[in-house]
Amino acid sequence: MKAIGKLIKADHADEWLTLSAKCFVDIVKSCLSKNDFVNVAISGGSTPLKIFADLAEGNYMQGDDWKRVSFYWVDERTVSADHPDSNYGNACRILKNLPSSFFLMYDHEKGVEDSVSEYNKLLERLPEKNGVPSFDLILLGMGNDGHTASLFPGTKGLDETRRWVIANEVPQLSTTRISLSFPVLHHAKELLILMNGQEKLDILKEVISGVTSYPISKALDGENEKTWIFY
Ligand code: 6PG
Repeated sequence: MKAIGKLIKADHADEWLTLSAKCFVDIVKSCLSKNDFVNVAISGGSTPLKIFADLAEGNYMQGDDWKRVSFYWVDERTVSADHPDSNYGNACRILKNLPSSFFLMYDHEKGVEDSVSEYNKLLERLPEKNGVPSFDLILLGMGNDGHTASLFPGTKGLDETRRWVIANEVPQLSTTRISLSFPVLHHAKELLILMNGQEKLDILKEVISGVTSYPISKALDGENEKTWIFY
């Protein structure tokens, strides 16, 4: 039975938002107390945007600390950064006033192949664990089909064991996504999984009961700290 990690259930949206933002900052601050810099990979979708807004406005950390934070992406849609679906564009619009570093995952000018190979190269600068880039924190979401990152059920990306960043064809969305692979998720020091809604909660209950068919379940196979905050 894999270790699920810590489960934190909020009673309502406001509590979930505050708990999630504080947990994110507590992990970052703990890293900064031991290291000069902290490397965080953030997921896209709509769920984390509420957290980012709270982080940007919430005075949780001083600017000098935010300067020591590097934001990478867990996954990205193959659209330009100014497209409404861009995870980078949506997050940076909210976080832009933080003096952190932000590393674009998909460059529409360069296309998929070059963006993927450049991001793989970029991750070589991170501290590694067993030869795999090790993020201090990876912020994950989950879809109503149990996908996480852009590792969707039935897609080839689920089987990637060697490359760190991949282009994953997602037939159910008729698109190609760029995504971190499971090895990188498994070698992060900590995973923070944020979600809300009954459908996702039902999937979490299945994962807790031992169902391993969902991609989110495979994301739990690493030897790292995992915290779930949901409502
Ligand atoms: C993405 C995300 C993805 C997300 C889930 C949940 O690019 O869409 O990285 O993995 O976490 O799809 O999305 P919501 O938060 O919008 O429900």
